[in-house]
Amino acid sequence: MTRRLLVTSALPYANGPIHLGHLVEYIQTDIWARFQRLRGNRCIYICADDTHGTAIMIRARLERTSELDIIAQMAAAHGRDFADFGIAFDHYGSTHSEHNRAVCNEIWAALKAEGAVERRNVEQLYDPQAQTFLADRFVIGECPKCGSPNQYGDSCDKCGATYSPTDLKNPKSTLSGAVPELRSAEHLFINVEKQHDFLDAWTQSGEHLEPSIANYLKGYFLGQPLRDWDISRPAPYFGFEIPDEPGQFFYVWFDAPIGYIGSTREWCQITGEDFDSWWRSSETEVHHFIGKDITYFHTLFWPAMLRAAKFSLPSKVHIHGFLTVEGEKMSKSKGTFVMARTYLDHLDPAYLRYYYASKLGSRPEDLDLNLDEFEKKVNSDLVGKVVNLASRTARFLQGSSLSEVYPNDGGLFAEGANRKDEIGAAYENCDLARAMRLVMALADRANEYVDRLAPWTIKKDPTRASELQDVCSVALNLFRQIVVYLTPVLPRLAKQCEALLSVPICGLNEVDAPLLGVKVGAFEHMLTRVDPKKVVAMIEASREGEGAVTSPEANQDDDSALKAEPIAATCSIDDFTKIDMRVARIVNAEAIPEAKKLLKLTLSLGGESRRTVFAGIKSAYEPAALIGRLVVVVANLAPRQMKFGLSEGMIVCASGGDTDGIFAVAPDTGATPGMRLR
Ligand code: MSP
Ligand code: ZN
Repeated sequence: MTRRLLVTSALPYANGPIHLGHLVEYIQTDIWARFQRLRGNRCIYICADDTHGTAIMIRARLERTSELDIIAQMAAAHGRDFADFGIAFDHYGSTHSEHNRAVCNEIWAALKAEGAVERRNVEQLYDPQAQTFLADRFVIGECPKCGSPNQYGDSCDKCGATYSPTDLKNPKSTLSGAVPELRSAEHLFINVEKQHDFLDAWTQSGEHLEPSIANYLKGYFLGQPLRDWDISRPAPYFGFEIPDEPGQFFYVWFDAPIGYIGSTREWCQITGEDFDSWWRSSETEVHHFIGKDITYFHTLFWPAMLRAAKFSLPSKVHIHGFLTVEGEKMSKSKGTFVMARTYLDHLDPAYLRYYYASKLGSRPEDLDLNLDEFEKKVNSDLVGKVVNLASRTARFLQGSSLSEVYPNDGGLFAEGANRKDEIGAAYENCDLARAMRLVMALADRANEYVDRLAPWTIKKDPTRASELQDVCSVALNLFRQIVVYLTPVLPRLAKQCEALLSVPICGLNEVDAPLLGVKVGAFEHMLTRVDPKKVVAMIEASREGEGAVTSPEANQDDDSALKAEPIAATCSIDDFTKIDMRVARIVNAEAIPEAKKLLKLTLSLGGESRRTVFAGIKSAYEPAALIGRLVVVVANLAPRQMKFGLSEGMIVCASGGDTDGIFAVAPDTGATPGMRLR
């Protein structure tokens, strides 16, 4: 029986580019959706950009542009990255669409009708200058526990304490530098506790979630009353205004999952499909793929929302772990925080599709990208085992055809066909690693066959032409059988195989019967070995801070002046007095939208004259918070032409390294611009 499946991946945030961590999910989902189609099921793959929230609003302010411009640009960039990795969505929408707004309002109305909505006042820090309530990350101050300065409003990165932003000592808004005030505002809440029994039954039924996830939910959430969920944010907020609640907006996590439905609605409008048969029909299975960090949104709040508005509940929420690179969290300074585009500039996307497949099991475990293993696995499995079967034999039959009768192969093809259920089950269960192991075992046996029968030796004897045809026919049929199994992972290889034998791969059942008598075309090159030099180049291009900066992304900042030279063991007093360090006042500070690290500062060193300095401190300071501050400037540094203009000096900062932050050095109060440091 063919199934109808609606498959989704989590909606990536529109405030940043796609990186290799995200791709774990999009590649996994794409493979699963392609497998379902190969099996003959009707399967659509739906996704969208997640566009709303404070982060995008702040970015638009800083870059003096509009949210709409940012989300349009990011949607285009995401689209290019996904397409180039072969991720084939049926529809890719946006949470900022009228379709999504309509579904939000519908679900909201259903929640209200059911009496699930409550209102309460919430005290929150407010920036009187920027006139906005401040999310936790927009407040900095001293840690209430250890006193470390410059800590965010949610946790301290020095001592690890977590707290609320109102606990910070000497809090400051990162938007304006103003001292925030505590203000009270009404928020709207969803009472999730009312659905406790339903959620308990749904999460613990054993059908929709992997057991360790069900246990986690039971242990952390369902063992006690569920807390009300705060789903509103007061203006200004980039999002959808809540119907009949002027000045109140849906919190981004309310409208984000609804984006799955909104995007489907848009697709239905484009294609003429019937919407209810996808989201309100027991005939359609809904499968969500997400990372473990967003589990409770998808397994508690989301089913509660769906149920209230009588949409289908997910058949399964498939949860994967997090990507580490070389055994550690991805790191910009180590060059392991690799953007999708940087990868594509250096390496073939097929490698990563196969490598992730070979590492992904059905449990939500973290997986590691080990670059050495990546190279070895791709070279030995894909090039050495799979493609090699064709490259060693196809040329002997080029222009001729496969045998009319399938030769005796000692049962190899039949054995491969017999594995169909097992390999199919592994794909179905998202145990892609197992599917890959089973397929590579078939490839090993096929290669043993070719090694044993050595067609290159048979070729030397013209009297053995039909034997040569038989041996190569077996090898090419085993190759094709393996490629059919790998089609969801390596769609391009499947196309190349179709071109070689001029027979399309229409479904998984093609593994059952060998091709007979078909013409063999010219063997076109299918896949190159991983070049380790390109892997190194990709890492170098991803490295921020010291070292070579070669990627277009990193090149956006002409910041080589910021890179430390080796420090001399001693420096004479004469050398030192050559440096003219002065107190300066920052009279203006602006972000440069295209630059990752640079802020453009206008300094006064006393008197009327002004000078421009480009400083690599964007990560540490909001421009508005710098205006009016005193800093120390190296005033006689030779001016330097940078991509964004002439830099006339350098401001003095303290920094322990990439992750330790950057701190502008400032004189005590009382100093005035122009004073010389001596
Ligand atoms: N916008 C939310 C999801 C809303 S869904 C209604 C979000 N976006 S995200 O861009 O941060 O992440 C998108 C997906 O990528 C999430 O499922 C997340 O778990 C996954 N990953 C992000 N970084 C990852 C790794 N380093 N490793 C594996 N998956 C990662 O969350
Ligand atoms: Zn602390």
